[in-house]
Amino acid sequence: MTQATQATIESILQEKRLFAPPPEFSQQAYVGSFSEYQQLYDKAKANPEQFWGELAEQELHWFQKWNKVLDWQPPFAQWFVGGKINISYNCLDRHLTTWRKNKAALIWEGEPGDSRTLTYAQLHREVCQFANAMKQLGIKKGDRVGIYMPMIPEAAIAMLACARIGAPHSVVFGGFSAEALKDRLVDAQAKLVITADGGYRKDNIIPLKEQVDRALADNGAPTVENVLVVRRSQQQIHMEPGRDHWWHDLKQEVSADCPAEPMDSEDVLFILYTSGSTGKPKGVVHTTGGYNLYTHMTTKWIFDIKDTDVYWCTADIGWITGHSYIIYGPLSNGATSLMYEGVPRPSNPGCFWDIVEKYGVNIFYTAPTAIRTFIKMGEHLPKARDLSSLRLLGTVGEPINPEAWMWYYRVIGGERCPITDTWWQTETGGHMIASFPGAIPMKPGSATLPFPGVVADVVDLDGNPVKGEEGGYLVIKHPWPGMLRTVYNNPDRYRSTYWEHIPPKNEQYVYFSGDGARKDKDGYFWIMGRVDDVINVSGHRLGTMEIESALVSHPAVAEAAVVGKPDEVMGESIVAFVTLESKYSPSEGLINELRQHVSKEIGPIARPGEIRFTDALPKTRSGKIMRRLLRSIASGQEVAGDTSTLEDRSVLDKLRGGA
Ligand code: WTA
Repeated sequence: MTQATQATIESILQEKRLFAPPPEFSQQAYVGSFSEYQQLYDKAKANPEQFWGELAEQELHWFQKWNKVLDWQPPFAQWFVGGKINISYNCLDRHLTTWRKNKAALIWEGEPGDSRTLTYAQLHREVCQFANAMKQLGIKKGDRVGIYMPMIPEAAIAMLACARIGAPHSVVFGGFSAEALKDRLVDAQAKLVITADGGYRKDNIIPLKEQVDRALADNGAPTVENVLVVRRSQQQIHMEPGRDHWWHDLKQEVSADCPAEPMDSEDVLFILYTSGSTGKPKGVVHTTGGYNLYTHMTTKWIFDIKDTDVYWCTADIGWITGHSYIIYGPLSNGATSLMYEGVPRPSNPGCFWDIVEKYGVNIFYTAPTAIRTFIKMGEHLPKARDLSSLRLLGTVGEPINPEAWMWYYRVIGGERCPITDTWWQTETGGHMIASFPGAIPMKPGSATLPFPGVVADVVDLDGNPVKGEEGGYLVIKHPWPGMLRTVYNNPDRYRSTYWEHIPPKNEQYVYFSGDGARKDKDGYFWIMGRVDDVINVSGHRLGTMEIESALVSHPAVAEAAVVGKPDEVMGESIVAFVTLESKYSPSEGLINELRQHVSKEIGPIARPGEIRFTDALPKTRSGKIMRRLLRSIASGQEVAGDTSTLEDRSVLDKLRGGA
């Protein structure tokens, strides 16, 4: 557990408040009482295959029904074996034969204030055209497509178009550097990259196409044959003849007729890279049928989404939250999903509340780090807007401290909106532990209880359930439809990362989440943060190893160790301890250069907040860096616990003195 979460946990341990779901909310909710939730949970537990099979039949369109709900060859699962399905069909086509045809599917607001609304019929047409344009560029079922886009409707269109023709997409967050983009394109062996000339971010333009050019320079990603470019920011860019194509040109040539490809339920839908504790980011693989059902059901029940709602998730489509809860889950439900290109910024700190007012947003889903930023910016901003349309609030990304929860509840929700705190991961595809807003009493800081079909527990390293309310490792004991299927091109890493940390007993495999947690006497889960070397900066997952390798790739750096330090707004901030090659000496200039270097290698989100030079790093006799000590030093705390394994105690004294 990190120091940042330690602070949160301490306040959480004092937390005794309980908030019942507001009766007006429960009355209209899909699941309106605790006993209804309990029934669903018990039903799923008694017979998971029947539970998921019935829902798959009721809630989704299948070209062909499956012949087996679950095939579990631990740790490899297949869901709805033999079924044929297309998630783009479920998100679009099936709504066109209903009144929803002319309902808003996407409401989009650009950072400079431009806006667009696409009805289901319009979105369907655009997706079909985009899919045909990709086909014209030679993309076939099974080919991987990289998407490096700003938050504009074409990002959603591109994803749905890939899904439509069965080309797995791999979305790379627009804030990642050319270097990080290249690594991901190479690993996924992408054939096509979809990008834009540029995107708006905090009143600047991010030169996305230029970054793509850099990633592809010198044959950097040799599998990429074409680049499809959407015009957004209008700035001058280079168009490589024969490789780069404007979307608005191709659009003139293609038809809007593109039937959805019947996909095997287990065909890959997308690959999304995420940080782990070791090595390079992993390509988390999600497939079609199970992911469609899981994101559909969690959206329906956890967000209690109705046809009359305007639903807004503030994530970026570059993260799993954007995939599952801006695009696939909401559209599969026929909902209206709002997409915003911008973020609160000095020139427009109240932009979120303007948007809630402008569109009458009913359901609002954001991250604790954003809430803490709103608190800092002051109540006057939301207070100056009409937020009375809101009926449900959600949070995701990190543990929420009870003070932030209370502020969100009072100031944004006007004490009438339930808050659903949703614990889940890139790997889980959708919500795993989260309150049913009309059914489960809330405790500020707890993600409450597991979704039906999710068998969560807190165990020790041997896999034994911990006693009482002790902390331990959060694990999942039964497969669920939205789970990752493997790590792209690396099944061994899949097995060792997720299924072997806790040793399987009698073929009983448990999924290791990498999070610590505690279960209280009511069975509520309290997430305590990562137990591995992953840090969570403003809800973004970063592997300390990745940042360390970026640092040591600079000629001045001999060795680097990166740890998280508690930060009031970001949750954690990055502190790097660096030893220099003998030719170099510490300076302010070098600090800036190293921070810039990490930004270039990974992206601005990975830039260390602090760099400390040191003569040596504290290591064990076997040469392992003792990060625990560095974490204490970084946060100015006394170094507690056992230091007897330290190879050279004087290192510690020096570090302390320098800190
Ligand atoms: C953390 C984001 C506490 C957790 C969907 C997890 C949370 C990691 C919560 C996954 C929450 C996410 N409470 N911690 N409600 N939601 N986390 O893959 O440490 O970007 O392992 O997925 O975020 O981050 P990822």
